[in-house]
Amino acid sequence: MTANLLLARRSFLAAPAAALFAQRISLSAAAVAAMKDAYRNVFLIGTALDFRRPDEFTSEELELITSHFNALTPENSMKPGPIHPQQDTWNWAPPDALLSFSADKRIKTFGHTLVWHAQTNPWFFENANRDVALARLRTHIHTLVGRYKGRIAGWDVVNEAINDGGDATTAATENLRNSRWLQTVGPDFLTQAFGFAREADPDVALHYNDYTIESGFKHQSSLVLLKRLIADGAPITSVGIQGHWSLTGLTPERYQQIDDAIAHYKALKLKVAITELDVTLSGAGGGQLGGGGRGTPPPPPTAEQLQAQAEAYAKLFGIFVKHRDAVDRVTFWGLHDRRSWRSAQSPLAFDRDGKPKPALDAIVAAAPK
Ligand code: G3I
Repeated sequence: MTANLLLARRSFLAAPAAALFAQRISLSAAAVAAMKDAYRNVFLIGTALDFRRPDEFTSEELELITSHFNALTPENSMKPGPIHPQQDTWNWAPPDALLSFSADKRIKTFGHTLVWHAQTNPWFFENANRDVALARLRTHIHTLVGRYKGRIAGWDVVNEAINDGGDATTAATENLRNSRWLQTVGPDFLTQAFGFAREADPDVALHYNDYTIESGFKHQSSLVLLKRLIADGAPITSVGIQGHWSLTGLTPERYQQIDDAIAHYKALKLKVAITELDVTLSGAGGGQLGGGGRGTPPPPPTAEQLQAQAEAYAKLFGIFVKHRDAVDRVTFWGLHDRRSWRSAQSPLAFDRDGKPKPALDAIVAAAPK
């Protein structure tokens, strides 16, 4: 074959290949519909992140945030530990940066979290009886909620107050975690916290937020607790089901439990948000730290795993859509797999490079047409 003929043959072969490639690119770009648009009239779609440094995110990541999400939760920067390290010291820079970004991009922001057994500095309890601890808590909540009044759409007022596990006996009780708040103030620390948040912002949504409250004995305890809070006049508006799930844990029974749990909370006239959604490919779900966290570079997921994850997300979103009268937000816990607290288990809809996974198409396809 002469050189010219070879060249001609190459261009002949290359032309349709290039056209096909271009078509594939545009097809995949078209297929990647924005989640927030697909669910625009259904519920908000959120992600959790923090602006720890001015150059925290690449331009591609910023594009990912603004194109797919219309709600943000600070993953760590508003927790009592990071934001209020000493009684008279506040670390406002990271949350201020997040609020400034979300105002600029017209993204709703949800505060996380005012009262927690973890990431709370010891000074809250030093030489404190009930009155002193409550006074410190009131100042903490008034200062934080007051600073962002009108700019935060909802607060996780109390996070994870119920014990893990449980049994048939504890299921009939609130089964509260034996935290410093419980020890120092007593079980009404929750009612008090909700009251302080309402004083500080009369209009903001106020959540009780927890993991695994959708199933088993812990779900029963959550109903006991929520009924008591309502009876005591706590100004609670919403329940946050965190939604740290795993492919292994998402059995048919579990999907049914999630469906039922949302219905049970709705029956208490509460709104429901899925506040920390992720579905790991392996390992356990739950919100406890430890096991398969950040750092370990994982083996690439198999096509079967990605497909199974996509199907799981589709089923979950099917349940959330069914309850769209109560569910007002679904927030993923992290932007993409590399930034996830469970990055080794590839739990999100975008991969480690921020590229769409099969889950994304499945989630978009599950939106009502
Ligand atoms: O920022 C410091 C860094 O300066 C330091 O070098 C490094 C060394 O360990 O730690 C960094 O802080 C870590 C922080 O995440 C930011 O990455 C903390 O150690 C680590 O404990 C912290 O973990 C967070 C965890 O809550 C504990 O607060 C996760 O990012 C966060 O995703 C996770 O989120 C919780 C929700 O708030 C409540 N529900 C469960 C969920 C998962 O545990």
